[in-house]
Amino acid sequence: MDAIVSLAKRRGFIFQSSEIYGGLNGFFDYGPLGSELKKNIRDCWWNDMVRRRDDIVGLESSIIMHPKVWEASGHVAGFTDPLVDCKVSKQRYRADQLFFAPVVVDGKVAGYVSALESENTAGDLQAAAESFKRKKALQGALAPVIAKDMTEAQPEEIEKIPSPATGEPGSLTPPRAFNMMFETHVGPLRDSSAVAYLRPETAQGMFVDFKNVVDTGRVKLPFGIAQIGKSFRNEITPRNFIFRSREFEQMEMEYFIHEDADWSKCHQDWIEWCRQWLMSIGLPESHLSLYAHPKEKLAFYSKGTVDIMFKYPFGVQELWGIAARGNYDLGQHAQASGKPQEIFDEASKKKFVPHVIEPAVGVDRILLAVLCAGYAEEDVKDEKGNVEKRTVLRLSPRIAPVKVAVLPLLKNKEALTTRAHALYKKLQRRYAVFYDDGGNIGKRYRRQDEIGTPWCVTIDFETVEKPGDTFTLRERDSMSQRRITEAELFALLEEQVY
Ligand code: GAP
Repeated sequence: MDAIVSLAKRRGFIFQSSEIYGGLNGFFDYGPLGSELKKNIRDCWWNDMVRRRDDIVGLESSIIMHPKVWEASGHVAGFTDPLVDCKVSKQRYRADQLFFAPVVVDGKVAGYVSALESENTAGDLQAAAESFKRKKALQGALAPVIAKDMTEAQPEEIEKIPSPATGEPGSLTPPRAFNMMFETHVGPLRDSSAVAYLRPETAQGMFVDFKNVVDTGRVKLPFGIAQIGKSFRNEITPRNFIFRSREFEQMEMEYFIHEDADWSKCHQDWIEWCRQWLMSIGLPESHLSLYAHPKEKLAFYSKGTVDIMFKYPFGVQELWGIAARGNYDLGQHAQASGKPQEIFDEASKKKFVPHVIEPAVGVDRILLAVLCAGYAEEDVKDEKGNVEKRTVLRLSPRIAPVKVAVLPLLKNKEALTTRAHALYKKLQRRYAVFYDDGGNIGKRYRRQDEIGTPWCVTIDFETVEKPGDTFTLRERDSMSQRRITEAELFALLEEQVY
């Protein structure tokens, strides 16, 4: 992760927000290359999800909506994470990420240890228990630790569990529900009548505008409404770079189906669609897995949720959630607004509230996944056979921020630069391209490898002196080189960048 975070900063993909003021935890800025990469991910999703399908339409709803939306959706009452405070250090922890264990020596509880969730939480607790036993000079056999998180702590245990910040017991509070919605006020008044929220998900926009789309969009079941936009959650512990942040971007789609439709098949179809889509933008199948939420942990209205998980360097984590939500959301809004959310289905001649399958993914999490999967450091040989290191970002041409770098072999030969510039300008009409005439050609290739540019074209003496007007095309992954005409270059891009 350190190497990826460092590359992201060094090459202008991602910066800490408000860095010159010390940064703001959980907020990030996307630099010149990061904003291109992010836009490409969004565009690929929008093209594949909306434009290339006949059954899905787009929407862009407002970020701040009527506060009653969030009451009806259940977010005001229930969009919470369990929070534990340390009264001494003023640190705050998510209770389900703060683990503890009794230290049991010769069958008796001698004290407690705690550790923050990590790749090896049980190992960390075991080490802490051994250290506790040593420091207290306890004799006897130490039992293997049994880790629990703070949501499982009994009231009498809480004051005995040490705070991770101070190492001492007595300062942790019992877990309490912390609502993650950011509050704001609409208009000049600051009282409770003016309270509104920054949306914590884009999904509610699709439910609240459901009737508007049905009445104006000539859609018929099954159909989907898709949206890309910012969401905000006051996460207790933003972490793992852009993986869990407080301001992030979601790409969500609500796929409405007949109440009698085979929801399970539709759910499975969408899971597979999402998996295939992730592979189409270059994520390796080997890094993807599925996690089905256990039935007993689902919300009462939910029929099933499956997450597509990705193997990040910090562990296997949720990338894309695909939920079968029944007709809960439309039903809630119908009740709260008094406006029926039913649809008349011509085929079955029935009026009913449609059910929904919801694939919901974060753009930032996809971006982090493609950086992690694409990053490599390799030993390669230069033209003279010397071994050197190269850093390469194997990004799919679909999403790479720069598609082609145009490189005149020498910058002081006008014939070369004129031809290079003409090609550059022509490519620029359709693609993000980069013109680089500085330094030796090997160095220029390396600079492009590091930012994930799939191809470099070099305009050399053969281009201008021999018939055929061909360039050297150098491929990022194989580093192989071949000659190519302008028409062939455009055909290659047409095929690979879509
Ligand atoms: N409408 C359903 C919904 O919002 P979610 O599982 O809470 O479901 C969907 O969020 C996706 O949004 C997640 O799978 C993840 O990719 C992304 N996401 C959620 N919280 C995030 C955060 N704090 N930072 C970055 N991405 C987040």
